[in-house]
Amino acid sequence: FLHKVVLGIETSCDDTAAAVVDEAGNVLGEAIHSQTEVHLKTGGIIPPVAQQLHRENIQRIVQEALSASRVPPSELSAVATTTMPGLALSLGVGLSFSLQLVGQLKKPFIPIHHMEAHALTIRLTNEVAFPFLVLLISGGHCLLALVRGVADFLLLGKSLDIAPGDMLDKVARRLALTKHPECATMSGGKAIEHLAKQGNRLRFDLTPPMHRAKNCDFSFTGLQHAVDKIITQKEKEEGVEQGQVLASAADIAAAVQHTTACHLAKRTHRALLFCQQRGLLPPHNAALVVSGGVASNFYIRKALELVTNATQCALLCPPPRLCTDNGVMIAWNGIERLRAGVGILYDTEGVRYEPK
Ligand code: KG4
Ligand code: ZN
Repeated sequence: FLHKVVLGIETSCDDTAAAVVDEAGNVLGEAIHSQTEVHLKTGGIIPPVAQQLHRENIQRIVQEALSASRVPPSELSAVATTTMPGLALSLGVGLSFSLQLVGQLKKPFIPIHHMEAHALTIRLTNEVAFPFLVLLISGGHCLLALVRGVADFLLLGKSLDIAPGDMLDKVARRLALTKHPECATMSGGKAIEHLAKQGNRLRFDLTPPMHRAKNCDFSFTGLQHAVDKIITQKEKEEGVEQGQVLASAADIAAAVQHTTACHLAKRTHRALLFCQQRGLLPPHNAALVVSGGVASNFYIRKALELVTNATQCALLCPPPRLCTDNGVMIAWNGIERLRAGVGILYDTEGVRYEPK
């Protein structure tokens, strides 16, 4: 191989994922094992359960990605693995597996920051130069950052409480959407997007969070509690027990999705104006990259499009399969770090590993 090829491994939360990606951005092999079904049954992720499932699957998933790629392990340029942030027990499985692997193969090891990987994924599919603004919205994270380089981020805003995906998951659970015939196997956010299409968002009045705060931070618990109250009231009115699907579920889904979209769009608008006014981003054609599981929501993308149109920016989203957790983004981040020559660590011989 003339160019760099990296094996990426991701186990930060509830997906065991691996991929082999080359320097040109070709995905040579890919495999993923999702634990969603198990966690849906228990109503949330139980860390030791997630750890056990990662242990049971990691060997097979890495093997599948490698076999599909037809790249002999000896030809790999490096192994890149998510080491933070995430569930400690889950991260540990990927880390110990990877350290053993790089020890055997005598390959460089590249620890990956999960959010950096989400942010840089766009550079695999599109030609996007630094600097750009990134909005990362998933089940565990919510942040706005100026990306000045591969490992050079300026944090502009974050959630003061929970992430939007977490809030949508909690609302979906409260609405018992897994009992809804159309949404049984969907993630909370996806189920809400699906139902919202059939709903009327104007039936319920929800105030966008922090609408007077002069910063780029986010908040979602207030919204969650407001929706909770509406659900309790509707259960009474409809004579439905908690845990059963309400007749007004679609309207509630539409209202919460709309309010979430407004909140995300307003904070992002502030961040774009801030960066443009200070010369941190070019005044025209700056890129807003939106990624993370919640970025696969098309209603939220539409709201963000209004903001990028108003600020003469380009809205860029990785394809949905690259927005949720995956091994490709980790492998690609490894490629980016190899090319930039930053953060490459070695294990066993020659060799140091310093988790930050
Ligand atoms: O990035 P991701 O796979 O995992 C992390 O949280 O890091 O994101 C998962 C989150 C879940 O909360 C899920 O409900 C949400 O993304 N999500 C969505 C959609 N698809 C997944 N939220 C809104 N609309 C969707 N279509
Ligand atoms: Zn993620």
